[in-house]
Amino acid sequence: MTSPVANTDSPRARLLGLFGSKRGDLAVGGVPAADLAQQFGTPLFAYDAEIARRQLAAVRAAFGTRVEVLYALKANPCVRLARALRLAGAGAELASGGEVLLARAAGFDGAAMQFAGPGKSAADLAVALEAGVGTLNVESAAEYAAVRALAQEQRVRPGVALRVNLSQQATGARVRMSGGSKKFGIDESAVLPLAQAIVRDDVCELRGLHVYGGSQNFDAASWVASARGLTAVAQRVEQGIARPLAQLNFGGGFGIPTVDGDPSFDLVAAGRGAGDLVRGAREDQRFSIELGRYLVAECGVYLTRVLDVKESGGKRFAIVDGGMHHFGAAAGLGAVIKRAYPVVACAQPDARTTAPWSLGGPLCTPADELGADVALPQLHAGDLIAVLLAGAYGFTFSPTLFLSHPTPAEVVVENGVAQLARARGSMADVLAAQQY
Ligand SMILES: Cc1ncc(COP(=O)(O)O)c(C=O)c1O
Repeated sequence: MTSPVANTDSPRARLLGLFGSKRGDLAVGGVPAADLAQQFGTPLFAYDAEIARRQLAAVRAAFGTRVEVLYALKANPCVRLARALRLAGAGAELASGGEVLLARAAGFDGAAMQFAGPGKSAADLAVALEAGVGTLNVESAAEYAAVRALAQEQRVRPGVALRVNLSQQATGARVRMSGGSKKFGIDESAVLPLAQAIVRDDVCELRGLHVYGGSQNFDAASWVASARGLTAVAQRVEQGIARPLAQLNFGGGFGIPTVDGDPSFDLVAAGRGAGDLVRGAREDQRFSIELGRYLVAECGVYLTRVLDVKESGGKRFAIVDGGMHHFGAAAGLGAVIKRAYPVVACAQPDARTTAPWSLGGPLCTPADELGADVALPQLHAGDLIAVLLAGAYGFTFSPTLFLSHPTPAEVVVENGVAQLARARGSMADVLAAQQY
């Protein structure tokens, strides 16, 4: 297997191809961006549900029927979008009590939910048990003790799995979350004793194991190695507890290219690797993977309008009405190396220029820059700009309260119709929770 796969495509060109245009304007689900901005205002997140569904279908085709695909709601907790993915066959991966509520609102059955995340509070666990979350991916012995106590109190028998921190490093991911010393999961060496304790207690049902190597992984071979590592731990646990494990969750984190030169994640190779691991498994054993970014990053655009255009020191600046408070990741938040997100002028999606623009938002920090040296055509106040790859880790991954601007609206476009998914905040929201 050769991975990561070198990529000759430009992410910008690929995304423009996915969205297409209408009346010369960038379109989202067939609706011109200008119409969306006019109807719902700016700044605005707009998601094309069909693009997300197609990604899910591609993953399901690559992994086959034995592997269930869970949507990690942390990537985008938009209920309409999550519901579209549920209707297209996804389960749900959750990381807080709030996400359990969102998944319920999107119509997911408890049985289709798995809940992972370090530091689950008593309130998180209570909501999860109440919703009948199928599997709690337990991250420490103390967390298991809390689940057991709650289960005894509520006289329920929750399904639990142990999130394994493999001793092997998850080398492929840009954001590594397994291997060596980590805050996530249970060190491989401590998994069997805890599994034995759970079986001995017989309060919870030990369903299986979980691993999550990290995010923005472009190396399918390293991803398969981590899944293989989990399978090896599972075999040792099964011997140690003298019973089979009902399920294994191989994690996710498949990468999406942002800039020219970023590699592609080899989905087919990952699916083939997982297929090798599940082939020959017992009929009743369940396997899952959990993906956020890979399913939804490409389906979203962030629409922002130019408020002002100026020149300083020979550089051109367009000041826009959106910024890092809504789309922190595009401004580099959370990235060790800032990678410029693709940006287009909606009225001339294909137009580029060699005289670059800096796109600055309204926040009083130089960090509030949605693009530096962006090749865009001549801009004027009132022009509409789209930042692409806005479907994952956008609005809810951003410092929304900084500088006290209203939160943006979100819409989901399905079958050519744009539906409001989150109402725009108002200026007065900044006072809502204050006591004075
Ligand atoms: C446990 C777990 N599962 C799934 C995900 C989703 O990752 P991604 O959006 O990279 O697929 C994350 C992201 O941090 C995670 O921590």
